[in-house]
Amino acid sequence: MRFRWKIAIVVLATVGLLDLVLSVAYERNLDQFLLDHSAQTLREHFSPTADVYMNRLARMRLPLPALGRDLALDLTRHDVAALVLDADGRVVASGKILPEDLDPAPVRDDAVRRILSGDSLATYVHRVEGGRELVMYIPLRSLSPASGLVGVIQLSTPLTDVDRSLGRLRLILIGAAMATLLASGVLALLFGGYLAVPLEKLEATCCAIARGELHRRSELPHGRDEVGRLATSFDEMVHKLEAAFTAQQRFVTDAAHQLKTPLTVLSGHLELLERMVIADPAKVLTSYATMREQVSRLDHVLRRLITLSALDAGAPLQREEVNLGDIAARVLDDFRVLAGARQLQLVRGDNATADVDPNQIREALGNLVDNAIRHTAPTGTITIEVGGGRITVRDDGVGIAPERLPRIFDRFYRYPPTGDGFGLGLAIARGIVESHGGRLSAESIPGHGTSLTLTVPAVRL
Ligand SMILES: Nc1ncnc2c1ncn2[C@@H]1O[C@H](COP(=O)(O)OP(=O)(O)OP(=O)(O)O)[C@@H](O)[C@H]1O
Ligand SMILES: [Mg+2]
Repeated sequence: MRFRWKIAIVVLATVGLLDLVLSVAYERNLDQFLLDHSAQTLREHFSPTADVYMNRLARMRLPLPALGRDLALDLTRHDVAALVLDADGRVVASGKILPEDLDPAPVRDDAVRRILSGDSLATYVHRVEGGRELVMYIPLRSLSPASGLVGVIQLSTPLTDVDRSLGRLRLILIGAAMATLLASGVLALLFGGYLAVPLEKLEATCCAIARGELHRRSELPHGRDEVGRLATSFDEMVHKLEAAFTAQQRFVTDAAHQLKTPLTVLSGHLELLERMVIADPAKVLTSYATMREQVSRLDHVLRRLITLSALDAGAPLQREEVNLGDIAARVLDDFRVLAGARQLQLVRGDNATADVDPNQIREALGNLVDNAIRHTAPTGTITIEVGGGRITVRDDGVGIAPERLPRIFDRFYRYPPTGDGFGLGLAIARGIVESHGGRLSAESIPGHGTSLTLTVPAVRL
């Protein structure tokens, strides 16, 4: 069910319930008020007549049955039926003599008992065919205090006017309820539609993104209300998704490209060997050597790609407390052969203890030293300085042009593009350092050398 319909149903149910409760309460109140008013009028109208008869009874010293019929007739009107009851609750006289006179209501024993036991008034509503009537019981008290209660008068009158007024009121209330329901329904639909617009836009954008249109955005104003904040978060999320997806695609393309060259060389040589094009044993050996070299390059790049994807997946670190100077010394030992005549120096300073994964830091540092050796003249010097929570690898090699410096940490970035490397060493080093919560930065002066500084925050004093 659509959002706006749900809102409309909730609003209509609430307004409807409210209408019902208020109308019933209002109608009940008014009914009670009109009944009280009718009872009051009836009593005021007939009390003087009763008083006159009580006077007469007292004066003439007669019992109630003697004047009961006259009293009942005097109390009877075209819209009032009267009964006179004695002090035992028995009917003494009825005012109905003509067929068109109203029938008196049936006597209610409980109401009579109430009057006989001292109540000054008892009223109730009696349902008759075609409406209701008000029935009232009034005590007849003798004027001589010795006689006390001598009887009870029962008056009944149809509530036609009251019922008619209530009927009119009911019609008005139903009309008002319909009008409020209609107005609130229309308003709820409009408001629901207004609220649903951003959701519908967001839904359309989500569908488009699911179809692969990652450039799509919510197209909602980034306001400060809930919808605005949702739009901001949504757009930021899609932006990051798009960036990650693009990087992923580029990574796959670059990786495929890197794998393609050694595989092409390998398949070329295999084809030549298969077709026995190379008959000379010396050339066969050369061909094998080339293939071995390409296989080792493939192995190398695959290992690097696996390392990168493990870093991306957030592989856990095997942290332990180590001396960074010891790791640097081991890395320098690893590279002595590759360095040839170049000088490898280690400068140890204070604050060299850190809580790191030693194998990972060794790999990161190895990549920096490998680069330094490859970009330094055969007589150059490579220095590793350890201390102050940092390891800096400094060389006096060719350096890096300022416009290339920001790109050296990018995956598959290498210079020159035809170089031996895959452009992954620094990306891996940075991934390792950042997984430790650290930072890797580079400074270089072209022609004078480069220094790469690795900082790990967990260094202890
Ligand atoms: N010490 C350095 N001196 C000069 N240039 C450097 C230095 N270190 C890195 N670079 C430049 O940064 C580029 C990227 O280095 P990175 O280690 O990521 O890749 P690579 O060495 O080319 O290949 P790989 O490390 O995957 O074998 C290098 O190709 C090189 O141009
Ligand atoms: Mg490298």
